[in-house]
Amino acid sequence: MKTLGSAIIGCGSISGVHLKAVADLENAELKAVVDLDESKAKRVAEQYGCDYYTDYNEVLKRDDIQIVHICTGHHQHAPVTVDALNAGKHVLTEKPMAETKAAAQSMLKAAGQNPGVQLGVIFQNRYNASSQRIKQAVDSGEFGKLLGLKGIVTWHRNSSYYETDWKGNWATEGGGVLINQSIHTLDLLHWFGGQVASLKGTFSNDSLEDVIEVEDTVHVFLQFASGAKGIFYATNAYVKNSPVELELCFEQGALVQRGDTLYLEQDGKLTVLVEPQVNLSGGKSYWGSSHELQIRDFYEHVLEGKPFWIDGPEGYKTFGLVMDVYESSRTGKTITYSGAEAAARS
Ligand SMILES: NC(=O)c1ccc[n+]([C@@H]2O[C@H](COP(=O)([O-])OP(=O)(O)OC[C@H]3O[C@@H](n4cnc5c(N)ncnc54)[C@H](O)[C@@H]3O)[C@@H](O)[C@H]2O)c1
Repeated sequence: MKTLGSAIIGCGSISGVHLKAVADLENAELKAVVDLDESKAKRVAEQYGCDYYTDYNEVLKRDDIQIVHICTGHHQHAPVTVDALNAGKHVLTEKPMAETKAAAQSMLKAAGQNPGVQLGVIFQNRYNASSQRIKQAVDSGEFGKLLGLKGIVTWHRNSSYYETDWKGNWATEGGGVLINQSIHTLDLLHWFGGQVASLKGTFSNDSLEDVIEVEDTVHVFLQFASGAKGIFYATNAYVKNSPVELELCFEQGALVQRGDTLYLEQDGKLTVLVEPQVNLSGGKSYWGSSHELQIRDFYEHVLEGKPFWIDGPEGYKTFGLVMDVYESSRTGKTITYSGAEAAARS
């Protein structure tokens, strides 16, 4: 069986999930890890029996490494991705694509200029069994037309969470609760609801004014091209990480998701459709449990030479919405999509 050589760039919180997934893959071999902090890289390298570096360019020079995972802060995604694609490496980057539209567009450009390698973007919650079941219901029309979608994220992040060199700042994180924690839920609403015709967003910093410059709370109204309406609310100002809530209202019932459990609500009765999954990834429960599924899928696509479905343009769709929510909030105006822009989001 052909094996792909891997490297993980960034050895912080999320890297453990990628390291475990690569270790579990029969068609991957971890060759190296990289972190600007040598002690972190060394510790991980010793645990996984691989090489380590503090400069990612060392990894890009190696012929035995074909895939790099980007697990750095948001502002480092674009420069590392562009260099890695130009060096002929496949790239799987953590969400969000980047911290600004220009940075994300530089990634799309590099991907376009290097058609022999693939760019994948992590949105692992699309692989959750509940998400797959909802998507199937939307696409098949089994409960009639989709009328409305709701996504609610009420989590807790205190000041110590922001004690890093990149979180809490517009320049490096690119935003707060929307671009970082709740982008997954907005992505699911978008994936289920399809093309967005317009949105209006409002953000604020309700609980961490003296700590961060980005928002800790956001709400969005989405008008989908299908006619469905979406409402979205997310905050880091709550007292705990509550299970994410999703609701999709159809002509003949509603799908209600709380955490990993999916219910069908029909005629006043709730029936369980999908039970919670085992957390395969070994990460925090609120990250979801499907990183390993997405990473495995990406490797299979690369090995088979087939285009991966959550590629640069697909990853950019929800990222672009996030950036537009910020713009809408700053200007107080609804953003309307038309023509090519709407088509790119479909
Ligand atoms: N998909 C999810 O559910 C999920 C969950 C958590 C975090 N994330 C994402 O993972 C990424 C990393 O988040 P984190 O919480 O692990 O951050 P972190 O700050 O804990 O770790 C980032 C690491 O990257 C290193 N680094 C930064 N620039 C580098 C460079 N140029 N070369 C090598 N190393 C570099 C830093 O030294 C640090 O150790 C972010 O994009 C975040 O949004 C995704």
